[in-house]
Amino acid sequence: MSEWELETEIAAYYERGGERERLTRNARGRLEFARMQDLLRRILPGKDLDVLDVGGATGIHSAWLAADGHRVTLVDPVASQVAVAARLPGVEAVVGDARELPCGDSSFDAVLLMGPLYHLTDRAQRVQALAEARRCTRPGGVVAAVTINRSAAWNDYLLFGAGGEDKGLSPDGSLRILREGDLRYYEQDVFTTAYLAHPGEVASEFADAGLAGAAQYAVQGFPGYIPELERLIDDERLRGHLMEGLRVIESEPSLLGASNHLLTAAGLPA
Ligand SMILES: C[S@@+](CC[C@H](N)C(=O)[O-])C[C@H]1O[C@@H](n2cnc3c(N)ncnc32)[C@H](O)[C@@H]1O
Repeated sequence: MSEWELETEIAAYYERGGERERLTRNARGRLEFARMQDLLRRILPGKDLDVLDVGGATGIHSAWLAADGHRVTLVDPVASQVAVAARLPGVEAVVGDARELPCGDSSFDAVLLMGPLYHLTDRAQRVQALAEARRCTRPGGVVAAVTINRSAAWNDYLLFGAGGEDKGLSPDGSLRILREGDLRYYEQDVFTTAYLAHPGEVASEFADAGLAGAAQYAVQGFPGYIPELERLIDDERLRGHLMEGLRVIESEPSLLGASNHLLTAAGLPA
């Protein structure tokens, strides 16, 4: 039994199922999903791997990772999400917390944290989650984590709130998050408690967890801010062009923070 408990409002947000269709329902979600697949398929250290999907929710990424031939274990603290993921072919799903993974030392080729880091508002706990991921990763394996960049809430305000669409974002609230990164107890219908980080902070947390020399990738990049993204992502020719350009800019240091999400990945020595 883990000593860690998910904050009540985070658990309630995911129990409500608010994010179930996040990566499929609109162009922004579809771009994030396509880019995560593109990045992970290049970052994973081979085929037929043991992959741990921490914070995997109902298994949107576990499903395609298993279909790609990997043996996937999903860990998530929200039991109702784990129950959905457990029905996916080729996926084992268990309730657990990133800060104390229910896994043996060196038991996976890749440990993915696509969610837990930004829901941990305390730096020491984020480092603890990364150290746990490292503990469970084999030599030669990889630890990869997604974070939300600092500008994401302000970007949402500019795109949706300021345009009059009611997304629950206020001008003052979005500026405060831009300055402080802390989304705690704020605008619960839009999202829930989270910490929005600058890329350099994430790299330093990786280093403090013993994961030196991490590489960083802008997931959606600034094209993710384009209001008419639908047109780009749903047209085959434009989509290919967009995906190729995003590969060109994905690790340009001056552009890492200009993206709603960031992927940071570190390999363990073989
Ligand atoms: C936005 S969802 C991301 C789901 C999926 N991985 C994706 O990329 O779309 C964040 C997930 O992190 C999980 N989570 C939050 N805190 C966590 C923690 N301390 N340990 C593990 N998972 C956590 C939540 O339950 C939720 O399923």
